[in-house]
Amino acid sequence: MFVLQNSIASTIMMKLSNCGSLPKDPAYKRQCFCNLISAAALLCIVFFMGSAFVAIDIKEKVSTWGAANSVQNSQTNLETKRNLETTKSSLCESQWKPAGSEPLPKGIISQTSNFEMQPLWGSPERKVKTKHSKSLLAIPVGIKQKGAVSQIVEKFPSNNFTVMLFHYDGVVDEWSDVRWSDSALHISAINQTKWWFAKRFLHPDVVAEYNYIFLWDEDLEVENFHPLRYLSIIKREGLEISQPALDTAKSAVHHGITARWRKGDVHRRIYKLGGGGRCYENSTTPPCTGWVEMMAPVFSRDAWRCTWHMIQNDLVHAWGLDTKLGYCAQGDRSKNVGVVDSEYIVHRGIPTLGGLDEKKRNADSASGASQTKPSNLEKVKVHHGSSTSKDRSAVRKRSYFELNLFRKRWQKAVIEDKCWVDPYS
Ligand SMILES: *[C@@H]1O[C@H](CO)[C@@H](O)[C@H](O)[C@H]1NC(C)=O
Ligand SMILES: *[C@@H]1O[C@H](CO)[C@@H](O)[C@H](O)[C@H]1NC(C)=O
Ligand SMILES: *[C@@H]1O[C@H](CO)[C@@H](O)[C@H](O)[C@H]1NC(C)=O
Repeated sequence: MFVLQNSIASTIMMKLSNCGSLPKDPAYKRQCFCNLISAAALLCIVFFMGSAFVAIDIKEKVSTWGAANSVQNSQTNLETKRNLETTKSSLCESQWKPAGSEPLPKGIISQTSNFEMQPLWGSPERKVKTKHSKSLLAIPVGIKQKGAVSQIVEKFPSNNFTVMLFHYDGVVDEWSDVRWSDSALHISAINQTKWWFAKRFLHPDVVAEYNYIFLWDEDLEVENFHPLRYLSIIKREGLEISQPALDTAKSAVHHGITARWRKGDVHRRIYKLGGGGRCYENSTTPPCTGWVEMMAPVFSRDAWRCTWHMIQNDLVHAWGLDTKLGYCAQGDRSKNVGVVDSEYIVHRGIPTLGGLDEKKRNADSASGASQTKPSNLEKVKVHHGSSTSKDRSAVRKRSYFELNLFRKRWQKAVIEDKCWVDPYS
């Protein structure tokens, strides 16, 4: 009852406080007037309910008192039972269960899952003890990149990585002859992007057991990349979101921060002392620090849980997402987001699932457009075989549209969430 009264009281307070300062807008005044009326109505209800409860309370007391006189023993029993029930209910109030699972006893609830394959026979519990934690490699693939993808997957030790392929061209059977095909998971959906797949098949509760999620493109070369060394570096450096640096001699480099440094294991910022969009040691925002590009991101479990929630179901090119990744860095983005130099890759930048016109992209980068528009990073992809320049420009158009929408949604969300505090403001 008290709780109820309190919550109603706070509702009333809220409604009234909304009217604190009266702007001139007549619509606002009207709303305010309604609020006052509904607040008054609520007050009446509280009053009536309050008195009803008091009445019931008194009746109960009278009847227990009467019973106590006649049967002493059963009274004691009843009290013990009641005490037990109160302890149980106060114990249970603090118990947390995932939404929807409340009717079940806690111990049977399996909230998270994984992609590990299970044998059809033998004891299901036998393997559990020997299991050590793995990471996940997920790549959107088309059959035309089979050779390149195979080279990537071969580099990832199967003891330490589970592999998941997202087939955007619907061709799955033709992968069956690669050595690791049977132990990989294959998901097929025509013409869908990496972010579409990730949103649908990498729910944080489903990938909860993987230490790190590698959400990579297919057009990468991994000659100088060793997954286990990479893991030990990002663990040591506390990088919650990272990417391997790009070999500048062989890669299409679109953003300064991804270019490989020759010294040290990692870098977390770039310096750009001239021209537009300058970056100094004291810069705190992307593109100077606190972000990575989206062709080969690696997320920690917690960073992924956060990032997954930020991916919009309909914004499949995810333009603009990268600049907000810092919010998922589990702390200071200029420390927890970084690029690993000692384990590096080549980004071939070929138009795979379509792909941007490379000439156009390079022109953008050269003119410095990429520095001032750090979010236009995501490679645009459409089905390879039939992708024409018309397709590509249509995809490009949609990508910009998505970028705009994402920014608008972010701004709206920031304004509407009164409880949210921007750690980077
Ligand atoms: C990789 O797997 C091996 C063998 O299963 C295990 O001993 C090792 O600890 C794993 N390494 C990492 C970084 O998880
Ligand atoms: C950051 O450093 C630059 C160059 O050293 C300086 O001009 C600028 O005022 C500094 N900005 C802040 C906010 O300290
Ligand atoms: C996939 O995209 C290509 C163009 O890139 C198009 O020709 C094809 O019809 C699309 N397939 C489906 C099923 O949408």
